Amino acid sequence: MDLVRLFFAVLGILALGVNAGGSGSCMFPAIYNFGDSNSDTGAISAAIEVVPPPNGESFFGHSSGRFSDGRLIIDFIAEKLQLPYLSPYLDSLGTNFRHGANFATGGSSIRPGGYSPFHLGIQVSQFIRFKSQSIALYKQHSSNTQRLPRPEDFSKALYTIDIGQNDLAFGFQHGTIQQVQASIPDILTQLDQAMNKLYKEGARFFWVHNTGPHGCLPYNVIYDKSKPGNLDRIGCVKPTNEVAQEFNRQLKNSVLHLRKQLPLAVFTYVDVYSAKYTVISNAKNEGFVDPFDFCCGSYKGYHIDCGKKAIVNGTVYGNPCNNPSRHISWDGIHYSQAANILLANQIINGSLSDPPVSITEACHG
Ligand SMILES: *[C@@H]1O[C@H](CO)[C@@H](O)[C@H](O)[C@H]1NC(C)=O
Ligand SMILES: *[C@@H]1O[C@H](CO)[C@@H](O)[C@H](O)[C@H]1NC(C)=O
Repeated sequence: MDLVRLFFAVLGILALGVNAGGSGSCMFPAIYNFGDSNSDTGAISAAIEVVPPPNGESFFGHSSGRFSDGRLIIDFIAEKLQLPYLSPYLDSLGTNFRHGANFATGGSSIRPGGYSPFHLGIQVSQFIRFKSQSIALYKQHSSNTQRLPRPEDFSKALYTIDIGQNDLAFGFQHGTIQQVQASIPDILTQLDQAMNKLYKEGARFFWVHNTGPHGCLPYNVIYDKSKPGNLDRIGCVKPTNEVAQEFNRQLKNSVLHLRKQLPLAVFTYVDVYSAKYTVISNAKNEGFVDPFDFCCGSYKGYHIDCGKKAIVNGTVYGNPCNNPSRHISWDGIHYSQAANILLANQIINGSLSDPPVSITEACHG
């Protein structure tokens, strides 16, 4: 090879190197997830009370601890990254943490004092303990290390966050719209602190979901539709959705701020709100029944949770539907697997993300 050709060969390799830094698969070895029931893969079942069937019926064939008939968005993320479904950190049986752990718990909020004791601050504390303990065990080789994360993977992992819905829900339940609106900066300050803690622990790649259109959840529509002028053109509760959108505007600003504050980290902001609103708007075209109908449990007339049944004045409440895949809402609050497939498809390729990169490439800032 003469010198000129060698020069161009080296140039080519350099160009490839630069290219590899800007795009291409990140090969995330693990996922650490933080959140609420939207991404709980069994924590409530492990820690509080078993999530009963027919939850899980469409995919797992048994209750998997998920609030859905099947897989959640986080499961489709795991599939896309070719990683196993996440074990809940709180589960003491049958877990495998080699490729990450799930700290999400149903009912959790960012701030303490909501529906669940496992607010985001606690989830981050659990993570910190999980990390130090698993590294210590790994180094001692004292237990079966195959089910432990590799210590070097903590800084290569994807940190996914989907939380905030319960801060809003709890606020709406216990205060006015204005009070919820006014609480958003404080909620986001606490989210910011949690992200900073994760960063200090070595987390570098963050995938942050914004909050969904709260006012489109059937239980909200049922409770709020009596108020005149409250529904938008597709039938969602307008004031509630406006607060969710304001939350998301401020969340996006927080993420922009975190990017400046923590330049070694990569933050992807994901507009789950739009994904959910689009699926609900297109319900008919996608072959779904009325998007405000849901499959399991009841909020109409009588409230009964999915998996329970009651007979009141001769009427049976809580029977699940025959065809969950035709419903967007599984139980009035949580999405069906059929909806989650569509949501995940919109989210994973990056078309709703800032920056617009696919999840497999979310390590490139
Ligand atoms: C059942 O009947 C009683 C007496 O008529 C009535 O007060 C109550 O609201 C009914 N409950 C439901 C869930 O319809
Ligand atoms: C991403 O996927 C959605 C849903 O399948 C599709 O509508 C959109 O065009 C895709 N965007 C890109 C950039 O591939």
